[in-house]
Amino acid sequence: MTYPKVTVVGAGQVGATAAFLLVTKGLADVVLVDVADGLPQGKSLDMMHSRSVEQFGPRISGTNDYADTAGSDVVVITAGLPRKPGMSRDDLLAANSQVVRSVIGQAQSASPDALVICVTNPLDVMTYLAWRESGLPHTRIFGMGGVLDSARFAYAISEATGAPVGTIRALACGAHGDAMVPLPRHSTVDGKPLTELLDAEAVRALCERTVNGGAEVVALLKTGSAFYAPAASVVHMVEAVLTDSGATMPSCVRLSGEYGVEDVYMSMPATLGAEGVRAIPELDLDAGELAALRESAATIGEALDAMGLRG
Ligand code: APR
Repeated sequence: MTYPKVTVVGAGQVGATAAFLLVTKGLADVVLVDVADGLPQGKSLDMMHSRSVEQFGPRISGTNDYADTAGSDVVVITAGLPRKPGMSRDDLLAANSQVVRSVIGQAQSASPDALVICVTNPLDVMTYLAWRESGLPHTRIFGMGGVLDSARFAYAISEATGAPVGTIRALACGAHGDAMVPLPRHSTVDGKPLTELLDAEAVRALCERTVNGGAEVVALLKTGSAFYAPAASVVHMVEAVLTDSGATMPSCVRLSGEYGVEDVYMSMPATLGAEGVRAIPELDLDAGELAALRESAATIGEALDAMGLRG
């Protein structure tokens, strides 16, 4: 059996967890890359030791050399610094820009035909930066934000209502950060919008918990940021691409006029397939939702302009 090849750059918490999910789910052979000598090799060997227990087919290897990543179908970028307590995602900007610039060039030289999915924070800006650096069509490079934010929204709804997660469809869009826009009218329990199930105060509290989901984890961990749900979320996106599923999920995609937003990467529902972003189907939004999303886009745009990335 031959498997697709996925490179995961960054063998830290998010990267290694994503890599383990990719192989244990039987989705792809994985090459784990990191600048740290021995880290990707050690983690990969550890995962291979579990192969007979977990009975997975794909192989995983670790390297510090992008030559080993050649011919990848998908590259997932998780390299960078995680958010520390008291640090906003934006504090990470300068440090992680350097990392993303160096990673994208090397990964792309080895795998010019790969689709690229960014995870490194601050996500919306890093994805835009990676797109500009790569020269790839925007349909082939996108980011993981909305799947995670929506999953956190689903968790909050499930905890508050007791509804099983399988009955919940939650949607959070916009910036992956404080300017996130949970969309309760587009979030349902058993097909019923949240706004019809709960009073306004309860809905507001759930939205607030969603926006603070990442910070809640950071405050508990104290020495790092979330990784299980981020890893599961990016693997969900990789799976859609590798299986050419045509599933629609909130993805950090480049908007050029959709929802009145120009030249910004942020999370909106997008249909994913083997070619990358197949479509950005338009959501039916009311004036308040549209205004909130445009405001969210504006905060990302400010960061892009401050870095001189647009234009
Ligand atoms: N090339 C490859 N790997 C790098 C580079 C680089 N230029 N710079 C740093 N790394 C590696 C580090 O050596 C480390 O192993 O990236 C890894 C990051 O792992 P962690 O510190 O454990 O961070 P993690 O929790 O995985 O988060 C990674 O994902 O969700 C986001 O905010 C998070 O931006 C952060 C990223």
